[in-house]
Order: sequence, then C-alpha cells, then structure tokens
Amino acid sequence: MYTGSFNTKIVITDNWLVEISKIKNKVLIIDSNIRLHYNEMLTPLLINTRFFEFNASESNKNLNEITKILDFFQTENLNRSSYVICIGGGITTDIGAFTASIYKRGCRLILIPTTLLGMVDASIGGKTAINYNGIKNCIGTFYSAEKVIISSVFLNTLPKSEYQTGMVEVVKMSFLHDSRLAEILNQKWDIINLVKEAINTKLSVCEQDIQDRSTRRLLNLGHTFGHVLESISNFEISHGTAVAIGIRIAAKFSYRNGFISESDYKAVNLRLDRFEFPSRFPAKYCHELEINGIGYLKQDKKAGKKIRLVLFNNGMKLFIHETQKFNDLIASIKEFSDG
Ligand SMILES: NC(=O)c1ccc[n+]([C@@H]2O[C@H](COP(=O)([O-])OP(=O)(O)OC[C@H]3O[C@@H](n4cnc5c(N)ncnc54)[C@H](O)[C@@H]3O)[C@@H](O)[C@H]2O)c1
Repeated sequence: MYTGSFNTKIVITDNWLVEISKIKNKVLIIDSNIRLHYNEMLTPLLINTRFFEFNASESNKNLNEITKILDFFQTENLNRSSYVICIGGGITTDIGAFTASIYKRGCRLILIPTTLLGMVDASIGGKTAINYNGIKNCIGTFYSAEKVIISSVFLNTLPKSEYQTGMVEVVKMSFLHDSRLAEILNQKWDIINLVKEAINTKLSVCEQDIQDRSTRRLLNLGHTFGHVLESISNFEISHGTAVAIGIRIAAKFSYRNGFISESDYKAVNLRLDRFEFPSRFPAKYCHELEINGIGYLKQDKKAGKKIRLVLFNNGMKLFIHETQKFNDLIASIKEFSDG
C-alpha cells in the first residue's frame, strides 16, 4: 500500500491480534465501546498487556484525560522505545496519538482505527489533537504513527449513523480532482477497496502539504459550514450530517457566485443524494444561527479577517476562496433549513 513520505506502514488485515501480541514493550489505549463489543476476542491480549480504557466523547478529548493517560504511562515506566497502541475511533486515536507524541518527546505509535472515519481519515496523515476551552482540536501535534492496522471486522458493530459519518468523508474526498473515488463509487464497490482508495487519496493530498498550509486545506470541504451547523445545534446535528449539508451549501454558494455551472451544481448534489445524505437541517436552529452564526464562522478557518472556504470551480474542481461576506454566508446556510 501507498505510504508516501509519512513512513507510516498501512496494513489491512484481520489477523492483527497475532502481530500485536508479539510486541513486548507496549501499552494499549482502548475505546471502552471496543472493549465491550470485542471483549472475548481481546481477552488474551488484555490479560498480558497493561491498558488504559478510554470513554470516547468529544468532551473527554481534553487535557484532564491527557493527565490521566500521562500518569498511566509513567506508572508503566514507558520509554521512547515503548509502543503505544491505540484501538478505537478518531477520538481515541487523536488523544492517544497526541499523548504518545509528547511523552518523553515521543513514543512508538500504532493506530488501530475501529470506525470508518478513523480508517479513512483520522488515523491517516499524522495529525493529533485534543479540544481546549471548548475549541475543537485546538491543541495538537504532527506525529506519524509507525503503523496503522485496519481490520474491517470492527465495522460489523459500528452504529449506522457512525458508518454514514465515515461515508460522508469518503464522498467528500471523491471531489478531490485526482482521486479515483468518484469512479469507484459509480461502480459496484466493496468496503475494503473503498477504504484503500480513500486512504490513497488522503495520503496523496497530505503528502503535498504535510503541515496543512495549502493543498491539504481542500480536505476541509463542507467543514466550515458544517462546524457552524454543529455549533448552532450544540452538537445535536452530527458531524456527518453537518458536513454533508456543508458540502451542499458550498456547492450552492459556488453556483450563486458564478464559479460553477448549474449542471455541476446538480452533479454535486446527485452524488450526495445517491448515499441519501441529508440536505436540510431543523429550522429550530435558525435563531441561534442569526445570533451567533458569524461568531462560529469566525472561529473556523481564518485567513486574517477573512473566512477561508473550500468551494467548487468549473469541472467540480475544488479551490480555496477567501471572503468577508459574512452575512451572505449566514444567508446561504439558512437556505438549507427545513423551515
Ligand atoms: N487526526 C485527524 O486527522 C482527524 C481527521 C478527522 C477526524 N478526526 C477526529 O476524529 C474524531 C471523530 O472520530 P470518529 O468519527 O471515529 O468518532 P469516535 O471516536 O467518537 O467514535 C464514534 C463512536 O463509536 C464508538 N465506536 C468506535 N468504534 C466502534 C465499533 N467498531 N463498534 C461500535 N462502536 C464503535 C465510539 O466509542 C464512539 O462512541 C473527531 O474528534 C475528529 O476531530 C481527526
């Protein structure tokens, strides 16, 4: 599999337990839902390995939990050659990788993502993060895992809504112009092939811009509008739903500003419709949108006093657009309410 310049070996296998069991100097950080669902399968590993069970939620992706994980590392006498193995969704791999990156200036790291989003996105590309003072992913590091091990077995227990969130990110990546995902999504695909191609797409984008200063920003398609929807609903609108609607808003904004044709605008929506991604958000959040929407927009990707958006150009190519037309942006979001 493609590893690019990240030096992360990405392995797709259902036989990972044997491989992990052979590693001597290791600890695990494990998502409590994974422990619950896969207790029988994991018992032989957990009997012989010290582990930290993590209750994965955005509110726990914080400094307080970091302190607990650091205490655990210290108690277990971890050193720079110790392996930290994180098993869970994006929240668990983000916090686990962040802690591994700072302890003794960096331990060895293996990620085993268990959500679709984790497999195609969060575990790929070497970014780690935690939330701080209510700001998502405010503190973080660039720290590549030595290995990412993907086992599709985990997807069997993933709730449908979490699966959908992962699919939204896959479809988002299909809009990147050199991705083969759009072609694959048009055929009869299986999940492993889709995951492989999504990883290739993400790696090839990140490789051109490891520090997230140019091309990598295109991966934010749908996210600036999406973050506003998550914020105005106090996170009642899920990330997947918010990003799907966010992509539709970006397409409409692009069409309205003359960047894409009507047929391209329709084509973007058609691709999202095929996966039955939502197109409207509840009108009850419009009041909060009007009051605090601009504030939430400004919290997101900023370029000086402007907001940096990922929009569509003709031929459905993505580009970065900077604007100060905050009221237009809020009006564009409001159009997608069901009221
Ligand atoms: N580092 C990056 O580059 C990057 C990229 C994208 C997203 N992220 C981060 O990823 C996080 C979201 O990750 P996520 O969507 O994987 O959510 P998550 O980690 O919260 O997992 C979703 C839920 O599913 C449960 N779960 C995980 N695997 C399961 C399984 N196999 N079966 C049943 N339940 C399972 C979890 O316990 C959790 O309740 C966000 O915090 C986001 O900021 C990071």
